[in-house]
Amino acid sequence: MKIIITGATGLLGSEVSLYLKEKNYEVIEWNSKNQDITNINDTIKNIKKIKPDVIIHLAAFTNVDKCEEEKGKAFLVNTQGSWAIALGAKEVGCKLIHFSTDYVFNGNKGTPYYENDLPNPINYYGMTKYLAEKKIIETLKKYFIVRTSLLFGKKRENFVLKVYEKGKRKEEIKAPIDVITSPTYVRDLLLPIENLLRSEEYGIYHIVNSDYCSRYDLAKEIIEIAKLNCEVIPITQKESIWKAIRPRFSALNNTKYELTFNHKMRSYKDALIEFINSLL
Ligand SMILES: NC(=O)c1ccc[n+]([C@@H]2O[C@H](COP(=O)([O-])OP(=O)(O)OC[C@H]3O[C@@H](n4cnc5c(N)ncnc54)[C@H](OP(=O)(O)O)[C@@H]3O)[C@@H](O)[C@H]2O)c1
Repeated sequence: MKIIITGATGLLGSEVSLYLKEKNYEVIEWNSKNQDITNINDTIKNIKKIKPDVIIHLAAFTNVDKCEEEKGKAFLVNTQGSWAIALGAKEVGCKLIHFSTDYVFNGNKGTPYYENDLPNPINYYGMTKYLAEKKIIETLKKYFIVRTSLLFGKKRENFVLKVYEKGKRKEEIKAPIDVITSPTYVRDLLLPIENLLRSEEYGIYHIVNSDYCSRYDLAKEIIEIAKLNCEVIPITQKESIWKAIRPRFSALNNTKYELTFNHKMRSYKDALIEFINSLL
């Protein structure tokens, strides 16, 4: 099976690439340097040249605050770039596995979101990702849209790593108590992605570690697991330095994925212990 991975240098993409190469899939790794997806014609031309069986589309402008400031770039990469990938996939008739976010929701529901809950993004990143979902659904039949949230792993800066590093330096950590979601370990998405590679049960799936927590609770758990000696101070989102507003409750419900693929996602708490211990 020949697979293009876009965003192969990213937090999730680097793990996906490694995992699939180890399993002897033929993997073509794209990043912003060797294939800028904002160059539509070139992107489609190269998909046609490679003729993949599957594209795993992980490339995105993921800095939520910067998306608010650089709206043009956010639209070009997240929406238009994803549309170009979908157009290329259509040309060659391949399957597309596209990654999206819990930030397509406004966070007002109060219980974990299902795939058929209505998106209503409240920040620009969420808007560009929601528009990408719509273009993919309009363009293709053979698509998986995977919504996930608050990824943690080793490859690049993320909330969990940042808290851990600050804790090691004994710096004070402030984290919002009123922003709740499902933290997800990138390695726990590897088996789900492999399941999708082999599946024809197309559609939207929420795939996250189970259970959810506030950023404050998560920061406290990280410090406890790592046995670090530093203070975690609860703040509200309004008191944070964020430029973009985050949904106050954007936990996702995994049931559709778990029943379709007979695979139970473990709690983020177990994943967090494994991840933090791998850093010690
Ligand atoms: N991180 C999260 O917490 C989170 C939460 C929910 C959903 N997601 C979604 O999950 C997916 C993976 O996220 P991630 O956090 O792993 O991403 P990431 O670490 O920010 O990596 C982004 C990747 O996209 C590539 N890229 C950026 N602009 C590009 C362009 N113009 N053309 C081609 N490639 C470009 C980057 O390449 P370079 O290395 O060359 O710059 C990099 O490989 C994304 O779709 C994201 O929206 C992420």
